[in-house]
Amino acid sequence: MLCSLSRCRVLVNERVLACSFTSNTPFTEIAQSRRSTKRFNPSLPISPSILESILADTLRTPTSFNLQPYACVLVKEDSAKSSLSTAMLGGNVFRVRDAPVTAVFLADLEPSKRIDKIMSIEKSYRAPEYNAMMPLAAGYFTGEGPWLGNAIKNAAAAAMSPVKPMPTVSKVNAWSGKNTAMAAMSFIHSSTSFGLATCAMEGYDVLRVREALRIPDRYEIPLMVSVGYSMDEEFEEEIKRTNRLELGEVFFDDTFGNPTSQSRA
Ligand SMILES: Cc1cc2nc3c(=O)[nH]c(=O)nc-3n(C[C@H](O)[C@H](O)[C@H](O)COP(=O)(O)O)c2cc1C
Repeated sequence: MLCSLSRCRVLVNERVLACSFTSNTPFTEIAQSRRSTKRFNPSLPISPSILESILADTLRTPTSFNLQPYACVLVKEDSAKSSLSTAMLGGNVFRVRDAPVTAVFLADLEPSKRIDKIMSIEKSYRAPEYNAMMPLAAGYFTGEGPWLGNAIKNAAAAAMSPVKPMPTVSKVNAWSGKNTAMAAMSFIHSSTSFGLATCAMEGYDVLRVREALRIPDRYEIPLMVSVGYSMDEEFEEEIKRTNRLELGEVFFDDTFGNPTSQSRA
């Protein structure tokens, strides 16, 4: 079945559903219709071209200093699914077994090792002043290194803060984790735009995942995303959307605690 998507978002799966979105589909429709699926159809694969487009979309995710401090293991083969499933908790066992692909997102705990490579691919794009300060600034922000080093940096920043704005350093896993989570969200929204179902997961035994997929200690494993076709479209249609807080409980105008005037009545 073909749908009129630009960038060759075309053949979904002849046996499956029509692709829900067209080239004119506003992003809001993708965001509002996405939900976590609990049951994947084990007999419906994702076409390689669609998967490739999803990965290309994910790679466009913005990251701090463009360091792209993440990696992602795509679990596709039955043997890998089976060994990953032994690390999963509760219903996640079946999600990993049934979904054609589970993307295991990894956050780099040694992002400074990326600086040279990123500089080499960006050299002509960035201004010389940026190239000159980037290694030092990036190394500072990532929070890599011993806890004491960050504590000293933050104490110095607090002392200087009344004089001029100073950066605060978080722990490297938090820094890398936030960048990785953004990539995972791109992956999810891109998948949704192709009519695919997704489920983000954090319910797993990290030690077992590490062993099953041979993930080096350099990387943390903050989340994974199973993607595929929903087991039963009609069943999924009946699932109500999960509720959210009110806009004014989350979004504040100008100062903390002042509910946004965008609040719906
Ligand atoms: C970081 C993260 C971890 C999650 N872990 C799990 C999980 O382990 N198993 C699961 O079934 N759903 C998991 N979910 C899905 C959430 O339960 C779901 O997103 C939430 O209830 C909102 O529902 P919705 O995604 O349908 O809007 C996770 C979602 C996120 C963002």
